[in-house]
Amino acid sequence: MQKPKPPPPPPPKKSIVSERCFAISVTLTLVLMCALGIPLAAILPPRTVEQLPINIIVPLYMSPDFSNWDPLYDAAIRYENTNFTVIVNPANGPGTPPEPGYVYVQAIQRLNQLPNVQAVGYIQTNRGNRTNETVYSDIDVYGQWAKKHQLGVHGIFFHHTPVEDSPHNRGYLKNITKAVRNTTGILAPQTVIFNPGAIPNVNLTHAGADVTIIYEGSYFTVPKQEELKTRLSNITGTRPNYGMLVLAMPTNIRRPDLRRLINDARRDIGYLYATDLYEGYYENWGGKWWDFVDLVPS
Ligand SMILES: *[C@@H]1O[C@H](CO)[C@@H](O)[C@H](O)[C@H]1NC(C)=O
Ligand SMILES: *[C@@H]1O[C@H](CO)[C@@H](O)[C@H](O)[C@H]1NC(C)=O
Ligand SMILES: *[C@@H]1O[C@H](CO)[C@@H](O)[C@H](O)[C@H]1NC(C)=O
Ligand SMILES: *[C@@H]1O[C@H](CO)[C@@H](O)[C@H](O)[C@H]1NC(C)=O
Ligand SMILES: *[C@@H]1O[C@H](CO)[C@@H](O)[C@H](O)[C@H]1NC(C)=O
Ligand SMILES: *[C@@H]1O[C@H](CO)[C@@H](O)[C@H](O)[C@H]1NC(C)=O
Ligand SMILES: *[C@@H]1O[C@H](CO)[C@@H](O)[C@H](O)[C@H]1NC(C)=O
Repeated sequence: MQKPKPPPPPPPKKSIVSERCFAISVTLTLVLMCALGIPLAAILPPRTVEQLPINIIVPLYMSPDFSNWDPLYDAAIRYENTNFTVIVNPANGPGTPPEPGYVYVQAIQRLNQLPNVQAVGYIQTNRGNRTNETVYSDIDVYGQWAKKHQLGVHGIFFHHTPVEDSPHNRGYLKNITKAVRNTTGILAPQTVIFNPGAIPNVNLTHAGADVTIIYEGSYFTVPKQEELKTRLSNITGTRPNYGMLVLAMPTNIRRPDLRRLINDARRDIGYLYATDLYEGYYENWGGKWWDFVDLVPS
């Protein structure tokens, strides 16, 4: 694993004075532009979007060694009104029972002390080819974590769930969801997340998952908002049931472009991750982490 690049320090909080100066200079600029005959419509945002909340979903697949998780703790403390769903993944799954190594135990206990953070456990499904016994056994191992003080996950993130319909896939998704609900060591609210990485066949959307990741891929191929809305209208959920993992943003993406991505997304989905990394994207912090968490709050 590459050693993660430490993110830049959080942006300084704007002072009231600087905001006031900013307001005055905006007013002056507007007056000047009106005087010059520049129409207001050319400079104001096209439509004021209702600022619906976004939950930041973080695939935190890096080990917590070397303070690697600090950017997450720092962000959760700094942005206390933003909810973070953090996918923990000690060993391509929960690792050897009864609990992960000492460093993981400590790191997850620390996550569980943050009121706006919810840890969920990663489980691979290989599009429904991973045997049900293996998946059940992973769920059970995550469930056993809860026996230790402050350890435990509040849901499961099922990676690479099927996209195509088949009787097997329907049964498989229903069964693994039921298995989570039936495992008392998976703590409330027992959030079940499917990651097909694309919009799945509508017949796979009745398995009882809380959240489906309907896009995982490059910034450059994120479906346009209108298109996404139309395509989502074919399946059964609503905004809080959907999420996106956006990778490979340009490293020099401007704040207005990142803001547009987030504000477009919040119309249709409730969970979002965005990074400028184009490889190892869940094992390192990208350069845009702080801009991202700063732009998410409504
Ligand atoms: C964060 O989660 C809490 C508990 O589920 C919820 O009450 C609150 O509305 C959420 N906040 C946002 C901004 O989504
Ligand atoms: C898994 O099963 C699907 C059919 O459900 C198949 O298309 C795919 O190639 C299989 N293998 C892997 C590794 O996903
Ligand atoms: C596990 O999968 C096998 C084969 O698909 C099936 O026969 C069996 O009933 C499944 N077991 C459970 C508990 O779902
Ligand atoms: C789902 O569970 C039922 C009941 O245990 C079982 O009969 C069925 O084979 C399972 N389906 C799959 C795909 O594992
Ligand atoms: C749920 O758990 C109970 C007791 O632990 C067990 O008997 C039952 O078979 C489980 N059901 C499912 C669907 O896993
Ligand atoms: C969903 O399943 C039904 C049969 O149960 C089938 O007629 C329909 O075509 C399927 N829908 C899609 C989008 O595959
Ligand atoms: C909705 O689903 C049908 C098949 O069930 C498909 O033909 C159609 O293209 C889908 N519409 C959109 C907008 O994805």
